[in-house]
Amino acid sequence: MHTKLTAAAPAKVEDLRREIVGIDTLVPLLDGTERSYVFLDNAASTPALRSVLNAVEEFLPWYSGVHRGTGFKSILATGVFDAAHDAIGKFVGADLERNTVVFTKNTTECVNRLANRFRFAPGDTVITTIMEHHSNDLPWRKNARVIHIGITPDGHPDLAAMKAAIARGKGSLRLVAVSGASNITGICSPIHDIAAWAHASGAGIFVDAAQLAPHRAINMLPDDDPRHIDFLALSAHKMYAPFGTGVLVGPKEFFNAGDPDLVGGGVVDIVTLDRAVWNRPPHKEEAGSPNVIGGVALAAAVRRLESVGMDAIAAHEQELLAYGYARLKRIKNVLLYGPTDHLEEKVGVMAFNVEGMHHSLVAAILGVEGGIGVRDGCFCAHPYVKELLHVGPEADRVFTEEVMSGNKSNMPGMVRASLGCYNIREDIDALVEMLERVAGGAYRGTYDQDPATGAFHARGYHVDFARYCSLAGQPFPDRIHSEAS
Ligand code: ALA
Repeated sequence: MHTKLTAAAPAKVEDLRREIVGIDTLVPLLDGTERSYVFLDNAASTPALRSVLNAVEEFLPWYSGVHRGTGFKSILATGVFDAAHDAIGKFVGADLERNTVVFTKNTTECVNRLANRFRFAPGDTVITTIMEHHSNDLPWRKNARVIHIGITPDGHPDLAAMKAAIARGKGSLRLVAVSGASNITGICSPIHDIAAWAHASGAGIFVDAAQLAPHRAINMLPDDDPRHIDFLALSAHKMYAPFGTGVLVGPKEFFNAGDPDLVGGGVVDIVTLDRAVWNRPPHKEEAGSPNVIGGVALAAAVRRLESVGMDAIAAHEQELLAYGYARLKRIKNVLLYGPTDHLEEKVGVMAFNVEGMHHSLVAAILGVEGGIGVRDGCFCAHPYVKELLHVGPEADRVFTEEVMSGNKSNMPGMVRASLGCYNIREDIDALVEMLERVAGGAYRGTYDQDPATGAFHARGYHVDFARYCSLAGQPFPDRIHSEAS
């Protein structure tokens, strides 16, 4: 008997919907009926693919500790786990002779680990943009001097300003850190142009590909190409493999130098009482027993996505995005943020508000009256959202003080519908239909806001969660909305 984890049959984009675990799951609505969940929150986390679950199930009988054990299962598991690293490196076009693929737990951890690993000297500079997720901003702020490049009125990073700042930075500039795609407007950065500017200034480039990798083919390019991407991170939970893996790709040479960020088991070749000789990367950067299942799952996901073709996925999502915008633009009172044309330059994220309504109220109604999963708020990118909403410094100060005093009622924000490869026009239709009702005031419920979270809850919406999932043996909590905004 042998493992056959690569055995994903060639598939078309339209095959993927059937493969989504839970695609037909019924959820309870405020009026007492149920409907199939409409999943439009893929920028947060995607559901799992059946082929990923199958790979995990196939592997579990062989699961064992890796890189340590001498038994058959350990040897087999080590081979599968190491191959998973290579599969993901190839998926992003990394030259694996010169680069390593490090598994972490998510993109946020990747950026923190990389920022710590740089060992910045005083005065060292990182250029990033206002468009970033906090994960590609705060770790740099913690470790280096950061310059934030502003945005144009439609939400693009100001590339002329970036190019000039990169050229000016020569000498102290160590890194340019940009999103491959925004989690709010979907705008894709011209990462290879930025790479060329960074390299000409003696700096490197890091691409936060969390929102790009599920939607577009990525090619880091050969290391000697000036347009090459030096470092890249992504998250499996946004790629149909929610088993807790993040991936950081970067030069072996970089990780060979200096001490690892985390130390402990697995990172060493030999330890004496006064010395540790580090193992080679990726082992040097993967302290402790790794998340083997997470790696196996992500490898299965990228193999499945590759069997369909990332270009086919991009084309499908773009067609859907165009359809979505065409329909949303026709709803009176709906305000859209970010560009709504040149869709080839953005991934499938649509951010909007309903004029005169709190974003959290709109999101709550979509959820309990429409069975539609979206996200609202500032999406862990507060500076960007506030810029897009034209929140001035005085209003920002007031909101900040309110939040610091425990009141999130007035936090600015938007609603976000984000697409995955398995979404279809009917998902957009469901969103538009509900939004038309919401914008026309034709929703049914009465909603109360919880000032501590800013979330709205429908009166009378009491759900026995255990009916839906035996693990959820509690009544509907008073406060279920995430504390994160
Ligand atoms: N970064 C994820 C989002 O945008 C969690 O929702």
